[in-house]
Amino acid sequence: MPDTIYDALRESHQIQRGLCRKLLRSKPHTENRIATFTDLRIELAAHAAAEERYLYAPILMDDMGLSSSRHALHEHHEVDELVEEMQEDDPASRGWLATARKLSKKVHHHLREEEKKFFQVSGKILSEAKKLQLAKQYRRDYKRMLKVLRED
Ligand SMILES: [Fe+2]
Ligand SMILES: [Fe+2]
Repeated sequence: MPDTIYDALRESHQIQRGLCRKLLRSKPHTENRIATFTDLRIELAAHAAAEERYLYAPILMDDMGLSSSRHALHEHHEVDELVEEMQEDDPASRGWLATARKLSKKVHHHLREEEKKFFQVSGKILSEAKKLQLAKQYRRDYKRMLKVLRED
């Protein structure tokens, strides 16, 4: 099977689902909780940046893709805000875990909506050749962003 943009995006989505699960199971006052949060924060940011550039920007140019891309970018922003809130709070507090649950719910909702709806909408806009090309571009930018964010 050729590697399309959707294969690449789904791989990142699975990583995010796994990290959300690991985070909610983490114990307060452990290195594991802090490390898992850092991994999830970086994964979410690298994925969102590369996805915005190589899925949503191209379909934003088409009338059919306008409302889906707007909606998705809005949800990326909501995820960012929850992550920021968690960065400012004490990871051992009850409030922090409540926000982590909210984040996990929002991430799961967003990934499901992308996989069930936005991928289908964009699938009608992008040509088969474009889907292959975007996979390469997404993977390159995602890796680069992971590196940039880890060095921060
Ligand atoms: Fe997304
Ligand atoms: Fe995504």
